[in-house]
Amino acid sequence: MAKNLIIYYSRKGQNYVNGSIKNLSKGNTEICAEFIRKAVGGDLFEVDTVKAYSDDYMTCTEEAQAELRNKARPELKEMLSDISEYDNVFVCGPCWWGTYPCAIFTQLEALDFSNKRVFPLMTHEGSGLAGAPAALKKYCKGAAVGKGLAIHGADASRSEREVASWAKSVV
Ligand SMILES: Cc1cc2nc3c(=O)[nH]c(=O)nc-3n(C[C@H](O)[C@H](O)[C@H](O)COP(=O)(O)O)c2cc1C
Repeated sequence: MAKNLIIYYSRKGQNYVNGSIKNLSKGNTEICAEFIRKAVGGDLFEVDTVKAYSDDYMTCTEEAQAELRNKARPELKEMLSDISEYDNVFVCGPCWWGTYPCAIFTQLEALDFSNKRVFPLMTHEGSGLAGAPAALKKYCKGAAVGKGLAIHGADASRSEREVASWAKSVV
């Protein structure tokens, strides 16, 4: 049976939801990543940075923009080094300035994706999948990039059916 890995980054705390700032106890992407696991099984891996991003939404957007500009690769608390046992890898993240947070790239660049199939899931406030598929083509060397799914972050908790049907259709 095919084995699935679900890599995700998700930021708790202040976020921009339908035009106003809200405090989230669980990040939108984490909710979706858990729906994938529930639907098709697999191992969840959370990408988490040694240096936390600011809890303040506006400050965090500035930090993220600077990282992107500098092509930063923030240090992670834990890193996967070997994904040879997996067939399918879901890469889930929030849209930050049109792509994944740089922390996800720290992890992706450290892995060998030969013979893997990868699928992007991005939560967002209007940008959709944005640069997620292109980022996976660039950073998941050797992988075949399959169909992705964009979920409006504010609807994450109501997205189980959509996430499950997409995940089942791709693996
Ligand atoms: C630093 C930062 C940058 C963001 N940039 C975008 C963006 O370019 N386009 C967009 O649609 N949403 C953007 N958002 C909104 C997030 O993508 C959205 O709220 C997402 O669901 C958050 O997921 P999370 O709770 O898992 O971190 C941004 C949010 C943050 C914190």
